[in-house]
Amino acid sequence: MTSKSNYDVKDLSQAALGKQRIEWAAREMPVVKLIKERFSKEKPLKGIRISGCLHITSETANLGLALQAGGAELVLCASNPLSTQDDVAAALVEFGIPTNAIKGEDDKTYYKHITTALDHNPQLTVDDGADLVTILHTKRSELIKNVIGGTEETTTGVIRLHSLANEGKLKYPIIAVNDAQTKHFFDNRYGTGQSTIDGITRATNILWAGKVVVVCGYGWCGRGVAMRAKGLGAHVVVTEISPVRALEAAMDGFQVMSLMEASRVADIIITLTGDKHVLDDEHFKIMKDGAIIANSGHFNVEINIPALEALSKTRSTVRPFVEEFALKDGKKIFLLGEGRLINLAAAEGHPASVMDMSFANQALCLEYLVKNQGKVELEVHSVPEDIDKEIARLKLASMGITIDTLTDEQETYLNSWQEGT
Ligand SMILES: NC(=O)c1ccc[n+]([C@@H]2O[C@H](COP(=O)([O-])OP(=O)(O)OC[C@H]3O[C@@H](n4cnc5c(N)ncnc54)[C@H](O)[C@@H]3O)[C@@H](O)[C@H]2O)c1
Repeated sequence: MTSKSNYDVKDLSQAALGKQRIEWAAREMPVVKLIKERFSKEKPLKGIRISGCLHITSETANLGLALQAGGAELVLCASNPLSTQDDVAAALVEFGIPTNAIKGEDDKTYYKHITTALDHNPQLTVDDGADLVTILHTKRSELIKNVIGGTEETTTGVIRLHSLANEGKLKYPIIAVNDAQTKHFFDNRYGTGQSTIDGITRATNILWAGKVVVVCGYGWCGRGVAMRAKGLGAHVVVTEISPVRALEAAMDGFQVMSLMEASRVADIIITLTGDKHVLDDEHFKIMKDGAIIANSGHFNVEINIPALEALSKTRSTVRPFVEEFALKDGKKIFLLGEGRLINLAAAEGHPASVMDMSFANQALCLEYLVKNQGKVELEVHSVPEDIDKEIARLKLASMGITIDTLTDEQETYLNSWQEGT
């Protein structure tokens, strides 16, 4: 039930626009559509209260509608202060999904919105970055007794949850949706790859060809951004702390160097590490005049913004999502999207086609948690292999792609050790 006390959006009159966007995204989400149709008939989430902390985008709205079709009572809040699409938030309220999210909300409002989502007294949680789960485990722990389980969408959230579990403090089972192959192979790589370039382009309108672009972190997201920047004609440099990933980047044809070396030559630096203060005081000091810096990792701590401020005489917005820091030494550095994930701050996040698989995982994992209530062990789980494979099969079918199956002879051969040279 939506009542004025359980939602908070910028402007309900934007709902019609939001609905159009949601429908547009739905065209590229055939797997979620199939799940929604089955959920409408079977109602596997009938009467289940879900609190979801996700980027409030048109793709998330389609997940929300699928869960609602399955019988769930869902309340949503934003998982980042800058990622909300206000028209989509308004449409969600009209669809009967109370939503608490306003683009550009301050930290106080952000946490107030999480609290409202938790007031729903959830039986399932859906998180992206583990802020909701953290508040539930600390300030609202009295609610945990009713929670069956939860899901986590992103790498950073999964890392936080493993730390919580390692300290013996995790209080209900969580499925790491991020770790499904049909999630991070595609969403983190192709989704972040394309949408990060999109966000930086929309914010700055730069020409990528010929630029020196430094990608910090060659994980799933970094690989995607490096690949797409190269495709646009940039000279891509990778920085890493993992020897194996650095080697992979080198053999993929990228220049690999330390960030101190890379900072001197960079036109654009993009962080995608999930780490803290990757770009810091020492790097700002040696950057070129006019360098552009952006983050696409989950939290806005990858760039040490207070340190940049301390080096600067002035900080001013020169176009939407572009702030100029005029340093005391006379040069200028441009920070995009307040250091928050730039693909969601300045663009629309991942294309719907890739979120189709991520959110199919979400929907099927939530159904799994309800079906197996009381039987799922208290730990951070991988996505069941059957779910991962089924999503890949459905996605391939939606793309009109047929693959081969093993013959009986091949099946026997692959399962035997006797046959050799
Ligand atoms: N922008 C988005 O929409 C989006 C989408 C998915 C994930 N994410 C977030 O992006 C971040 C990266 O995710 P991922 O799946 O690529 O993780 P990952 O673990 O696959 O990769 C992270 C990489 O960063 C490297 N790294 C860590 N600290 C570093 C440092 N100081 N300097 C250089 N490299 C460093 C690690 O060695 C690793 O190779 C996470 O915060 C994740 O939550 C963002």
